[in-house]
Amino acid sequence: MTDVNGLSIAILGGTGDQGKGLARRFALAGHTVLIGSRSAERAQEAAGSIGSGARGGANADVAAEADVVIVAVPYEGHKALLESLRAELAGKIVVDCVNPLGFDKQGAYALPVEEGSAAQQAAAVLTESRVVAAFHHVSAVLLMDPAVEKVDLDVLVLGDDREATDTVRALAELIPGVRGVYGGRLRNAHQVEALTANLISINRRYKAHAGLRVTDV
Ligand SMILES: NC(=O)c1ccc[n+]([C@@H]2O[C@H](COP(=O)([O-])OP(=O)(O)OC[C@H]3O[C@@H](n4cnc5c(N)ncnc54)[C@H](OP(=O)(O)O)[C@@H]3O)[C@@H](O)[C@H]2O)c1
Repeated sequence: MTDVNGLSIAILGGTGDQGKGLARRFALAGHTVLIGSRSAERAQEAAGSIGSGARGGANADVAAEADVVIVAVPYEGHKALLESLRAELAGKIVVDCVNPLGFDKQGAYALPVEEGSAAQQAAAVLTESRVVAAFHHVSAVLLMDPAVEKVDLDVLVLGDDREATDTVRALAELIPGVRGVYGGRLRNAHQVEALTANLISINRRYKAHAGLRVTDV
């Protein structure tokens, strides 16, 4: 497994449930975690609520400072935010966990994305970054719950750069219980993002926080 010791991690939109949940687990694992927000003040508040040395700042500032940057904003704001951070994210591993989903009376469904997926949209915008797709299926509720010692799922990690996907697989495994499994090239990210709609349906029917395990690997 790739050595990720000492890597600092920024989370754009880290004031939301998913960002805070991931931040909490990485901070507990001893990493420097930087919470990003459109408001530095909101980011500092969120960082304070996480503790374990997490710090907060404006999205652009944390993106510029960190080694690895996770994008955890709603799909609606995804493209515009990344377009505004091209320079700060150049040369970095950018981890996209965005699920382009719509919701109606029948529940969640996958939205069409012109580029194929949110992750491919990120790669199209961030031509100087190494974009990896991961963490789509992990439940923010479980990440935040102090009673949950181990999060029982495989994180599918997709991308076109072997070193970058190996790094993100190792980051995923900082979360106790999680295994990082390579899930294919970025062009296959659509199904992984869309599958979240199925998991949300499962969660609603069974009152669960369902995760996936890949067998025989
Ligand atoms: N929640 C989950 O369990 C989960 C699991 C897997 C993946 N995801 C994915 O992770 C992403 C974040 O999910 P979430 O539930 O944490 O969402 P969220 O709470 O709705 O949003 C996260 C943060 O994004 C920022 N934001 C909102 N609208 C924005 C915009 N138009 N432009 C830039 N920033 C904006 C906000 O931070 P500021 O106002 O502080 O800037 C907000 O706190 C989503 O794409 C989701 O599909 C979520």
